Amino acid sequence: MTNDLLARRHATLGPHSPLFYRAPLEMVRGEGVWLTDAQGRRYLDAYNNVPHVGHSHPRVVAAVAEQMATLNIHTRYLNERVVRYAEKLLALFDPGLDRLFLTNSGSEANELAIRIARQHTGHRGVIVSDFSYHGNTITLAEVTTGLDAAEALAPHARAIRIPDLDATDAPDEQTLLRSALAELDAAIASLDEAGFGVAVLLIDTLFTTEGVVRPPRDFVRLAAERVRRAGGLVIADEVQPGFGRIGTYWWGYQQWGFTPDFVTMGKSMGNGHPVAGVVTTQALLEEFGSHNMFFNTFAGNPVSAAAAEAVLDVIHDEGLRERAAENGAFIRERLEAITASYEALGPVRGAGLFFGFEIFADAARSTPDPATTKDLVEDMRERGVLLSRIGRHDSVFKIRPPLALERAHAERLLATIEESIAVRFGS
Ligand SMILES: Cc1ncc(COP(=O)(O)O)c(C=O)c1O
Repeated sequence: MTNDLLARRHATLGPHSPLFYRAPLEMVRGEGVWLTDAQGRRYLDAYNNVPHVGHSHPRVVAAVAEQMATLNIHTRYLNERVVRYAEKLLALFDPGLDRLFLTNSGSEANELAIRIARQHTGHRGVIVSDFSYHGNTITLAEVTTGLDAAEALAPHARAIRIPDLDATDAPDEQTLLRSALAELDAAIASLDEAGFGVAVLLIDTLFTTEGVVRPPRDFVRLAAERVRRAGGLVIADEVQPGFGRIGTYWWGYQQWGFTPDFVTMGKSMGNGHPVAGVVTTQALLEEFGSHNMFFNTFAGNPVSAAAAEAVLDVIHDEGLRERAAENGAFIRERLEAITASYEALGPVRGAGLFFGFEIFADAARSTPDPATTKDLVEDMRERGVLLSRIGRHDSVFKIRPPLALERAHAERLLATIEESIAVRFGS
């Protein structure tokens, strides 16, 4: 059945859209942190960040069903639920970040933030981190370096390397910081010289696609200061780190001690329902809104608001952000013990309930080992646990479960990682 479905998918959707695993899985049901395939096998989901509060959470399902059965319409009528959601969401931000544009995807959110920034600054340049991904529109494809995109890096784009304290050859923190800021200064100067100027710095605040990179503490704050001095604005892409994923804070940017001009979000916002958005300042919204008739047919419809509101309510009522911090610390400690036992495993990366560690081919940790990383991901699947890999060399083991993960699930996840690694590397 699954093979037949694969052939039909290829015959209709084509063979290029990515599927996980050498033998792709056909999922038929999700509940909490569990996914069930067409053969009835259950898998512990330690990968998916879209079902943030758990697959098919009953409160999200009920809110969407009830709203769908009552009213769903485009955004040109007043609707209490949409405004109430905006109020609840904006209450989670630092003062000044108090206006919301709703969109349908993270790509659309980043596209809109860049458009607003360009109109405000009169500049065109975009600075991104090297090996990043922020979406699939033309503007974003032209700044994408972390996934295959046929578009070349645009003349108005510069990709800077995020300094990584966990890299095997990392110098001391101050040296690393100085050289990274010098690279940023050079990017700003080159955009100025080319006549583009800097419109935005666009960063994922957990540097996830990059391989969950750990920059020096002050890097993000100082980079934002430099970009602003050059007349640019800053977009914090919270599509992956946001909504409590990092545990200690609601938003990834907060861990770096700065406030961005835009926060873009998506994925987990509707627990699988396509809802996304841009949070910004009143001044930027006013300026953009008064010069553009910005209309979005679907974004901000009552059903999307119902999904997104239920997600926020569940995070609050079930203490999921706090749980991400507690379970995150628990998992991290155990992962650190596991990785410390094997010379080929790099340090544990990440924050809250998002972890990575790099797998190398040598004890000196100089040669990343994507093939072994892939084998381990496949082996974990055989053992009933879903996770993945990421980073510049696809050699960082990536663990990112729904926030609904409980301690017993964490124990199972860790025991399975321990077994899989022991078999591969010898215990
Ligand atoms: C950091 C980041 N930003 C933006 C996006 C784009 O979001 P979407 O796929 O909803 O357009 C993604 C998607 O993977 C992402 O990981």
